[in-house]
Amino acid sequence: MCGIFAYLNYQVTRTRKEIYETLVKGLLRLEYRGYDSAGIAVDGPKKTSNDNTICIIKTKGKVKALDEELYKKDSLDLEEKLGTHFGIAHTRWATHGEPSPVNSHPHRSDKGNEFVVIHNGIITNYKELRAYLINKGYEFESETDTEVIPKLTKYVYDNRENDGITFSTLVERVILQLEGAFALVFKSWHFPGEAVSTRRGSPLLIGVRSEQELTTDNIPIQYNSVHYNEGVQEKNSHNRPDSSSPIDCVGDGRPVEYYFASDASAIIEHTNKVLYLEDNDIAVVKAGKLSILRVKHQVGEDPVRAIMTLQMELQQIMKGNFDAFMQKEIFEQPESVVNTMRGRICFDSNTVILGGLKDHLKEIKRCRRLIVIGCGTSFHAAVATRQVLEELTELSVMVELASDFLDRNTPVFRDDVCFFISQSGETADTLMALRYCKGQGALTVGVTNTVGSSICRETDCGVHVNAGPEIGVASTKAYTSQFVALIMFALMMSEDRLSRQQRRREIIEGLRVLPELIKKVLALDKKIKAIADELYEQKSLLVMGRGFHYATCLEGALKIKEITYMHSEGILAGELKHGPLALIDKDMPVIMIIMRDACYTKCQNALQQVTARSGRPIILCCQDDPEISQMAYHTIELPHTVDCLQGILSVIPLQLLSFHLAVLRGYDVDFPRNLAKSVTVE
Ligand code: G6P
Repeated sequence: MCGIFAYLNYQVTRTRKEIYETLVKGLLRLEYRGYDSAGIAVDGPKKTSNDNTICIIKTKGKVKALDEELYKKDSLDLEEKLGTHFGIAHTRWATHGEPSPVNSHPHRSDKGNEFVVIHNGIITNYKELRAYLINKGYEFESETDTEVIPKLTKYVYDNRENDGITFSTLVERVILQLEGAFALVFKSWHFPGEAVSTRRGSPLLIGVRSEQELTTDNIPIQYNSVHYNEGVQEKNSHNRPDSSSPIDCVGDGRPVEYYFASDASAIIEHTNKVLYLEDNDIAVVKAGKLSILRVKHQVGEDPVRAIMTLQMELQQIMKGNFDAFMQKEIFEQPESVVNTMRGRICFDSNTVILGGLKDHLKEIKRCRRLIVIGCGTSFHAAVATRQVLEELTELSVMVELASDFLDRNTPVFRDDVCFFISQSGETADTLMALRYCKGQGALTVGVTNTVGSSICRETDCGVHVNAGPEIGVASTKAYTSQFVALIMFALMMSEDRLSRQQRRREIIEGLRVLPELIKKVLALDKKIKAIADELYEQKSLLVMGRGFHYATCLEGALKIKEITYMHSEGILAGELKHGPLALIDKDMPVIMIIMRDACYTKCQNALQQVTARSGRPIILCCQDDPEISQMAYHTIELPHTVDCLQGILSVIPLQLLSFHLAVLRGYDVDFPRNLAKSVTVE
């Protein structure tokens, strides 16, 4: 995730300082979407009226660092008055290339800054485009996927058939070549005072502030790029202008201001009139007038856009319709797992390529054992995937809590491969374990959510899980993304094993439908809230399971203790008779996870033992399992998937349950007492 913000003032005079302030304020509002580096592009100083230049300023670190940079001694004239101006700004959460000024946005077409672009999303075919453009003589300066976009824009511009090409046509041609997800805003000194923005898969909206009355009427779509609109359905034709006569939808040439942003939090303090772009819309502001074009009309899609009036408070917008970031992050999981897989799994050919590991794959395949190390939730991701790692790699797999691993001075050898799992990439114990393993000569692999973090930099190779920034201290979406990343690694390792092909196909198919299944689990939220209503005054809560769901028990119990301050324990059902059974009576709340997998019968036995002691278990089970449902006090029925992925679905009800319990108990869900998001001390 990244934050996009842009501001266009048309015949509304602003000083450069005021423009900077608007851009920086917009970025600060979006900082929760990414905060490892930031940048802006504005018009440079003009010596003559035709002398258009663009000036880019970028810094590593939070938006505050950028803000300070803008006011340094050698900065542009802050009092310069700009009657019509377009400025773009970006706050980054790195996916390709570490946080650094050169990798931050805006990215540019060339040293002369002819075209500059800000991007949120991932371009999956960037390598091919990059190779093509390098072949054509274009020079790249960053490691990002984004940089191909301004370069490609210049390439299309330089190879245009006639001089009259419009900015929007250029952008239209560029995005037809892009695969992946994006929200983009373009600026160019060839088109001063003009803005073009577009989206596919990533959010983008435009705020309009104007003295003229803005109606909430539908905005007709301008179909002037006919060759890209073949097969358009004759729907809502009364809204369709003549294709040859462009209609300017908003703005009549009088003073107006436009704000482009990834979400409304950055816009609402300026205006509550907004227009949400849909996939494949291209929004163009030219001479102060905004119009929307379509790249490719999707059958059945409504081609009507409307200016809406937002009624929300700022806090509410940042968290969307959610009460807490943790809740928002839980509900983001259908998308965050897609972002983890994006560009890495080919569902047609059943292949998985993790770019950050492929050069080391041979070495990893030759290793003696895999050691997977982490703390807290990240450790649980290792526990969750251990079995499938063992199965598909046919290697011995150790999972280790970093602190304990260090305490034991665990023997590590040159032919070991050590994985370090960490959302933040900064956890002190995990980092120390990494340095220890490096010292022993092992190959080190990072699995982090933070590009450019210490673990990321110090490991030999790695995988970014691309879950987007996680703000709630209790980790949720990072866990499921780590889970998916480790599964993808197992799949990549087993690609050439004939005996594993059927299994691999099943898992890859399971990953394909995973986002839909996660949505189904999230739809159980009301039911889970009702269970929380019954449980929230309890002192203790046990979570029991085995096999693929042992990790869910540990992770569910961790979520509960972290944010509800209730005592909670994750219990391996196989250990029930060796102690925990003594805790069971009619008053002790127990959650049991019983899925249709190899441990089903053993779990049923545990269930018998619990009910025989008058226990009243709440059971997470597969849909349509009457045998289990009969014995349960409550059931939470989950969609069925392949056994090694089922843990992604079984953990979500426990994330939701812990959230509701914490709210009912009156605690701050996002910032639990005594805990920190990133633990950088031993
Ligand atoms: C802290 C956080 C946990 C996290 C753990 C490991 O304890 O509160 O949510 O799981 O650190 O953090 P890491 O960034 O290494 O995944």
